[in-house]
Amino acid sequence: MKILFIGDVFGSPGREMVQTYLPKLKEKYRPNAVIINGENAASGKGITEKIYKQFMEWGAQAITMGNHSWDKKDIFEFIDDAKNLVRPANYPEGTPGKGLTFININGTEIAIMNLQGRTFLPAIDDPFRKADQLIEQAQKRTNIIFLDFHAEATSEKQAMGWYVDGRVSAVVGTHTHTQTADNRILPKGTAYITDVGMTGPYDGILGVEREAVLKKFLTSLPVRFEPDKNGRNQLNGIIVTIDDASGKASKIERIMINEDNPFLG
Ligand SMILES: [Fe+2]
Ligand SMILES: [Fe+2]
Repeated sequence: MKILFIGDVFGSPGREMVQTYLPKLKEKYRPNAVIINGENAASGKGITEKIYKQFMEWGAQAITMGNHSWDKKDIFEFIDDAKNLVRPANYPEGTPGKGLTFININGTEIAIMNLQGRTFLPAIDDPFRKADQLIEQAQKRTNIIFLDFHAEATSEKQAMGWYVDGRVSAVVGTHTHTQTADNRILPKGTAYITDVGMTGPYDGILGVEREAVLKKFLTSLPVRFEPDKNGRNQLNGIIVTIDDASGKASKIERIMINEDNPFLG
């Protein structure tokens, strides 16, 4: 089983990169499933039903979210019907949506879960204890378990990787929008990377127009953050190879496409 995961898709520049490169990535890597983090897919903040459906049409099987889950009001209209969309599972009881879903690829099930860290992010439920619960639930159906851990601190993400090592197939970090080079297979068979990186503007600051971010740092005045649409774009992802029966990962490769690292078909 090969799973392609594309990191935080940011606004229309990110969506255009997915549309352009997903067919090429599919041809090159032949993934059985594609998962996209869509928390910033609508103008850098949240996701709409239209974009969710577009991702599915373009070939994704599941969408994960993060701290921007609720930024577009549209989410409350469709989240309960969006079978293949997961938001962080450790949000308070009663929150719309779900944090664990299952997709079926030619008879093989993949559990997809989303959790959010608590370091430098809002205080929510314990992602570690929640991971235990979700893994127990998922293991009743499949050994192939994919976790998008949406968190800021590298330490919290590494801690999660080690905490679930051998119990899930892959832990991929999202949220920082900057790809880390620490992809590895942990000793008990979990594929791990601290952050997959972002898909969208390459010349902005984490995807946002540079001028606005610089003004914020230089003056502390309130500014409006918009996706940078004037520069070059990038796509960041990973591809994980997993044994169908055991759910153990054997390989995790980084994908980075930008003008300095051109796509080689
Ligand atoms: Fe993000
Ligand atoms: Fe985020």
